[in-house]
Amino acid sequence: MSSSLSIRKVAVLGAGTMGHGITEVFAIAGYEVRLMDISDEILRNALNRIRDSLERLSKRGELKESVDTILSRITTTTNIAAAVEGVDFLVEAVPENAELKKNIFREADKYAPSHAIFASNTSTIPITELSEATSRRDKFIGLHFMNPPPLMKLVEITRGKYTSDETVNITVQLTRFLNKEPVVVNKDVPGFIVNRVLFRVMLEACREVMQEGVKIIDLDAMARNVLGLPMGPFELLDYIGLDTSLFIVKAMTERGFRAHPCPLLEDLVNKGKLGVKSGEGFYKYP
Ligand code: CAA
Repeated sequence: MSSSLSIRKVAVLGAGTMGHGITEVFAIAGYEVRLMDISDEILRNALNRIRDSLERLSKRGELKESVDTILSRITTTTNIAAAVEGVDFLVEAVPENAELKKNIFREADKYAPSHAIFASNTSTIPITELSEATSRRDKFIGLHFMNPPPLMKLVEITRGKYTSDETVNITVQLTRFLNKEPVVVNKDVPGFIVNRVLFRVMLEACREVMQEGVKIIDLDAMARNVLGLPMGPFELLDYIGLDTSLFIVKAMTERGFRAHPCPLLEDLVNKGKLGVKSGEGFYKYP
């Protein structure tokens, strides 16, 4: 395989917040996608969210094809062997838990064709560590989409210790076919670039609130109006999901990343307040 033009079939493993959006991005670009998760209900829910997003894009005139044509490229399954059979490229997007990810990759490695490239959408866990669960370390790469994948242009591509230049080149080309802007990260450190910077900002914002008594709403307003960010740090934490954010902080700090802890985040997660998706986080959502 010498170019991403030869990539036709793609599997996305995990149909949650990121997995369903990544599936949508591939289907819009014309790829056949098999989407896998552990239950039919999760998959049904993911397809509904993809339809809803496609309809919004279509209303704004951003699609070249009908919603149904794009949706017809997506098939779903709860079986990993069926998901990866005959694929050229695979993206894993299960929760941010290293053991879970390694188990999925170990299984996928048994059934996927030997030429298939394995990509992880991990936002924090070093690629080298994950690649060691497979027999195709040279064909293993980080491919980190931003939330929401259909709207966010940037994709962080991380090279692990064993990733070949060919795998990097194919993946960069592929992301351009997806109409995204790839940024190649050559240092496989926990959190890569985006989350090391982003979470330092968000954890610093949390420190200002907890230690200096700044109001959450004021801090977010400053970030939007002065720093020019589309969302303030607390709005963004709610949007990413507070459970996911906590997973990210833990995965990075366990691997040596140093930042202020944010007990507020932990308290909200313990109360089941997970942000936009649960109806309440730092803010309430109707
Ligand atoms: N699919 C399709 N359309 C969508 C959509 C989706 N998933 N989400 C929103 N839209 C549409 C809305 O329907 C709306 O369309 P109209 O203008 O036609 O009404 C339009 O996009 C704008 O949406 P909103 O008015 O609701 O809100 P907005 O203008 O604030 O835009 C946003 C939404 C693009 C998410 C914007 O707020 C934004 O860029 N926020 C920051 C997101 C960000 O930083 N993401 C990265 C997070 S970090 C990360 O992901 C890495 C990690 O590992 C944690």
